[in-house]
Formats: sequence, structure tokens, C-alpha cells
Amino acid sequence: MIQVKSFFAKNDLRNFTYLIWDKNSGSSWVIDPFDDKAIIDYIKKHQLVLRGILNTHQHWDHVRGNAGLKSLLNCSVMGKECSPLELIEGHKLRFLETPGHTLDHQAFIWEHGHKHQCLFSGDTLFNSGVGNCRDGGDVDKLFDTTKTLLSLGDEVVLFPGHDYVKKNLLFAKSCEPENRDIDKAIYRLQAANPEDGLGWTLGDERKVNPFLRLDSHEIRQKLLSPEMGLDDEFQIERHLFRKLRQLRDNW
Ligand SMILES: [Fe+2]
Repeated sequence: MIQVKSFFAKNDLRNFTYLIWDKNSGSSWVIDPFDDKAIIDYIKKHQLVLRGILNTHQHWDHVRGNAGLKSLLNCSVMGKECSPLELIEGHKLRFLETPGHTLDHQAFIWEHGHKHQCLFSGDTLFNSGVGNCRDGGDVDKLFDTTKTLLSLGDEVVLFPGHDYVKKNLLFAKSCEPENRDIDKAIYRLQAANPEDGLGWTLGDERKVNPFLRLDSHEIRQKLLSPEMGLDDEFQIERHLFRKLRQLRDNW
């Protein structure tokens, strides 16, 4: 039986590390290790074997724990040649190229049979936001990637690389003041501990994430004007995405 354990870094970056592990065999795989000591303690406590390290991208806060895990647990970083990675029979982790936040960014999709269960999105997609493109990224590629991720089903659970949800929701509210789903999400957040992970699905995201809501009347009214001369739907969406990213960068 596959489990996902989240580790939260209590610093300004608010990183999440995920340990995927199988209760029966004790096999485990880590995504974006930040604090290697916390992971090693957990692995020892539950008598697990670390089969591999997966990194969504090379920013230091996503690979920080690699060296400690490699030397102490004698395991290596798994590249895209390992995709799809069989976790246990019937459960696979598929590597997906997701350029945008960085050009070599990848995400991981946990599949059970033909069903997509979870998306480990790194710094591509966050709860109610997307990653920035300031350190080696490309906003148009992030737009294309986000559209690709939207083709996954509503039931897919999102495991993002950071907890930025509080600020993201306030930004979302500034984009869509009339969106009641954002009000509800802000209210629900008061009783939740984001450090435990929110367990939001892509369906939840589609209701409150402005970067997934480019058809919103309020967003269009705010960010489009006739003199822009945009008549093609793809061009309109790309313009809105760029503009939202720019606004969020300065928010
Ligand atoms: Fe990053």
C-alpha cells in the first residue's frame, strides 16, 4: 500500500519534500529533499529502504538534501530514463517535462492503472498559483505547461513544492473580488494547517487559481482592453497568463 509522507521546511521558503513509500515492502522514493536529516530519521524509524531520489528541478532548495541521502543511504538520483518508475505492481510514477519555472523542470504523476492519482508539481503549479520565472524560467513555456497539466482530471490531488497558499489566495481575491469560492477557501484555510498539506485536487484549483481561470469574466474585464487587438483565443489566454504572472511578481 502506497503512502505519501510530507515534510515541511519551517523557513521563509516553505518547501515541501515528499516521501513515497510502500507499507508492505518498505521501498521508498523521495521527491525534492530539503532536510536530509529529517528524512533519514523517518526512514530509520519506519525501517524503510530508499530506492531513489527524484528532483523536480535544480534550484538549491529542491536538491539541498541530495548529498546527505546519497552518502548515508547509498542511493542515487533518478533521471527521466527511469520513467515510468514502477513503485509496486499496478502503481507507477511517470515523469513529465514541465518547463517554465526552469527550462528543465519536471513533474511526477502517480498512476494507478490508467487512473491519475496525484501530481507532484514542484514549482510549476502551487495551491492557487504557479511558479515564478525569475531564475532561469520562461513565462510562455510555463503557460504551455499549465495548459498541459489542465488536461489531467479534476480528481487528481496536487502536491506542490511550496506552501504559498495564503498569499496566493489573497492575490486571487484581488483578481476576482466576486469569486465566492476564493472567499470559502480563505475561510477554510483558517482551520487548516497548510504545513500538513491541503490535499486540494485540480478540480479545487480550477475554482480558485487565477492562472487556471483565464476564461473568468472578472479577470478579462480587469486585464483586457479592445485596443490590444487580441482576437485569437490562444493569444488572449497567453496575454492574460503573462499579465497575471507579472502582477503576482510585484504583489
Ligand atoms: Fe524553484
